[in-house]
Amino acid sequence: MPSMTVLVTGGAGFVGSHFVRAACESGRHVVILDDLSGLGLSDADSLLTLPLPSGATFVRGDIGDGALIRKLCKEHAVESVVHFAGKIQVGESVRRPELYFDVNFARSLRLLDALREAAVRDVVFSSTAAVYGVPQEVPISESAPTVPVNPYGCSKLAFEWALDSYARAHGLRFAALRYFNASGAHPDGTLAERHEPETHLLPLVIDAARGSRPPLMVFGHDYPTPDGTCVRDYVHVCDLATAHLRAIDKLAQGHSLGPLNLGTGHGYSVKEVLQAAQDVLGAPIPHVVGPKRDGDPPVLVADCRAAQRHLDWQPVRSELATLLEDAVRSRW
Ligand code: UFG
Repeated sequence: MPSMTVLVTGGAGFVGSHFVRAACESGRHVVILDDLSGLGLSDADSLLTLPLPSGATFVRGDIGDGALIRKLCKEHAVESVVHFAGKIQVGESVRRPELYFDVNFARSLRLLDALREAAVRDVVFSSTAAVYGVPQEVPISESAPTVPVNPYGCSKLAFEWALDSYARAHGLRFAALRYFNASGAHPDGTLAERHEPETHLLPLVIDAARGSRPPLMVFGHDYPTPDGTCVRDYVHVCDLATAHLRAIDKLAQGHSLGPLNLGTGHGYSVKEVLQAAQDVLGAPIPHVVGPKRDGDPPVLVADCRAAQRHLDWQPVRSELATLLEDAVRSRW
């Protein structure tokens, strides 16, 4: 395949860094644009000293800097963009909606305008199951009502609408990939899930087992689910990376894809995750049961048949035990 350059915003983040690795391994050139704001200071420092995969260039900067975007597109002959950069904490979005609408919508729109000026028309967007809010039916298909229940989901959905409108008016081609629970890590153990602060279940479970954080607090035990704890659809970050590569190829072939769910179609409760982690680690996971977290829907499971069909994609590392083994290897 001829080499093509992909601009990857947020390429230093969890899903972004796995995508960068996969894209470089498949012979693409990648320009990473990241302001490193999603990482703690020491992680940001250590990332800057790590060797990049061959074929990757790193630029520290802001997605809302139109002049920078146009310059990068021109200098690197960018053909497509994968837009991962964004704010991702539901709780923070409730307290500081202005931040979420600024980064996930306003700055992202400036990115889109700069791409239009640079005549780059293929965009793969990192969206989220949070656009569905509390679903009426599970598994959730792309045609389910989009009624987000927090500013995070609203800001992501607003940008999906912008993409759709630009596609109709300006010939943009896009995929809005709605992730369910991105988790796991590269099997070689060199890339890990790191958020600052960490709020995601799997890293917190592993850190509780290692003793580097307090016991896990299980958020609620009287949900209308078989064991009373929330059910989620955990999808391996390497499977997500592959789906993005497929999406770029499909867009380049002239297909605009629109929204697609990325999950496995299978859900696991928090208790089942704890049990699976205990099986992998061979020791009980310290945990306590606490109150529900605001805005947690009881069950989120994807109907992912559209992604399987349109992207010719199947998750291959998303078995819960594999996910946990990979996540443990990257954090231990
Ligand atoms: N959980 C706990 N204790 C914790 C952390 C999480 O019990 O300390 C539970 C949550 O209540 C939830 C499950 O573990 O039931 C998974 O929680 P995560 O925070 O790991 O993930 P979410 O399902 O809340 O969030 C994910 C994505 C979001 C996205 C959301 C869609 O990370 O970006 O799905 O609603 F918005």
